[in-house]
Order: sequence, then C-alpha cells, then structure tokens
Amino acid sequence: MQDIEIDPVAHNRAAWDKYVQEGNEWSIPVSAADVERARAGDWSVVLIGHQPVDRSWLPADLTGKDLLCLASGGGQQGPVLAAAGASVTVFDNSPRQLGQDRNVAERDGLELRTVLGDMRDLSVFADATFDVVFHPVSNLFVPDLSEVWRECFRVLRPGGSLLAGFVNPDVYLFDHEALDERGEMIVVHKLPYSDITCYSAEERAAKFGADAALEYSHTLADQIGGQLAAGFVVAGFTEAPHQSSASASYMSHYFATLAVKPD
Ligand SMILES: C[S@@+](CC[C@H](N)C(=O)[O-])C[C@H]1O[C@@H](n2cnc3c(N)ncnc32)[C@H](O)[C@@H]1O
Repeated sequence: MQDIEIDPVAHNRAAWDKYVQEGNEWSIPVSAADVERARAGDWSVVLIGHQPVDRSWLPADLTGKDLLCLASGGGQQGPVLAAAGASVTVFDNSPRQLGQDRNVAERDGLELRTVLGDMRDLSVFADATFDVVFHPVSNLFVPDLSEVWRECFRVLRPGGSLLAGFVNPDVYLFDHEALDERGEMIVVHKLPYSDITCYSAEERAAKFGADAALEYSHTLADQIGGQLAAGFVVAGFTEAPHQSSASASYMSHYFATLAVKPD
C-alpha cells in the first residue's frame, strides 16, 4: 500500500526539526572562530559533500550583495557569507534549522534574516530581489522541481547566479542498507525513485524509521533541464563524493551547477 497523499512539507519539517535535536551534521552551526575568520576574509562554504565551493562561482566581493541561502538552514553557510559581507536571507522549511542560523547571528553579532517556507514558493520575495541564490543539497526533499527553478529565476536580478547542489539520481538505484552496512551495490529500484512510491509507510518505518525525511531522486532532466527551462544559462558543473557512504569509492554522490540569469 502506498500513502502518496502524505504531505512532504509537513513531514519533512518535523523530520528536520528532529534531526536538529539529534545533532545531524547538516545542523551543526559554524564556530565563532569560523565567523571571525570570515570577517577577516578567510572563508569557505560547502555546496556539495564536504568540498568548499569554487570561489569563482561567487562574486569576488560579497560586500552588499543580496544573497538567498535557499533550504540552507543549520547555521552553516548563512552566517559565514554574512560575515564575509553579504546581506543574507536564510530560507528553510524547518524552524529549528533556522533557529541555528539565528543563534549564530546573535552569538556573533551578525545581521541575518531568516524566513520559514517551502522552496517551491518564494512569493514572500519580490521579483529581482537577490544577486545570488545559494542552494545546497536539499531538493531531494521535495517531489517536484520546476517551481523551485522558476522561483529562483524570478527572485534573481538579471546577471544574478544560482549555485545548486543535488544528489546524483543513480545513487537511488541501490539498496540503501546493503550499501551503507556492507558496501554492496545491489540494484533494487527503478528511477525516478521516491520513498513514498517505492515503500509503504510500514516498510519505510522498518527501513529508515517512521520519522525519517522523505526523499525523491529526480532526474537530470528535472535538475539541469529544469534550470534551462526556467531561463537559466548553465555556466559551471562539478561533482563530489559522499562524505561517508560506501558509494563514495564507486561514483560521485553529488552534482552541482552554476547557473546565470541572463542580463
Ligand atoms: C541537508 S540540509 C541542507 C542545509 C545545510 N546547511 C547544507 O549545507 O546542505 C537540507 C535542508 O533542506 C530543508 N528543507 C527540506 N524540505 C524543504 C522545503 N520544502 N523547503 C525549504 N527547505 C526544505 C531542511 O529543513 C534542511 O535544512
């Protein structure tokens, strides 16, 4: 039985709030020393895996740039980019993830705005509000991407850029447990994969835990084709291994694109 009526936004909000309480690695804020170094011009941020993003993908001088950290809570990229001079808004679906950003901002005296919502609906922002959208690996948590790319395009100024990280869809071909526990790559799923179409609620609870965030593999057409369809020009592409999964020795777990809204 498939419970395809489940609301992924509500479900994943609760899941990510819980991950914060459990100390998930994507919820651990940067240190005061990281912020101090960023203020002095020594900084890096992660877009995929544990790899610092290529600095040439961001404006050379962030001072005064309006930057949207999209689905990027956890007190990680937002505070660093704010300390580096950008005017940062962090948008995320999890109140606790946003709380991590506010905690860092308060601790280290940073200006930073946080906004709660679904990445597919950025209507809280006017057209052409941002110079940069920084969107680390998070679109696996929504079932459809076309609105994400359309909204990113709309809120960017002409000449602005979208840096987007996402999961290599091929990762979802494999049996998750066999891979993580025994390093065996056993093909079990057709693509595109989603937790809710491939497993019943009971199977999911047994396999991942009832509270685990719901994931969707998407296709490269959804990811890269979707950005092009929204009007972006793709100007850069890179990939990175997973930071811990056994799949890291076989293939890149993450892809990232740099896309530009034409002038
Ligand atoms: C892996 S974390 C990414 C944040 C992290 N700072 C990073 O470096 O990748 C995924 C984030 O996506 C957010 N998220 C999940 N579904 C969302 C949605 N529909 N809209 C906005 N954010 C969402 C989660 O709350 C979580 O903060």
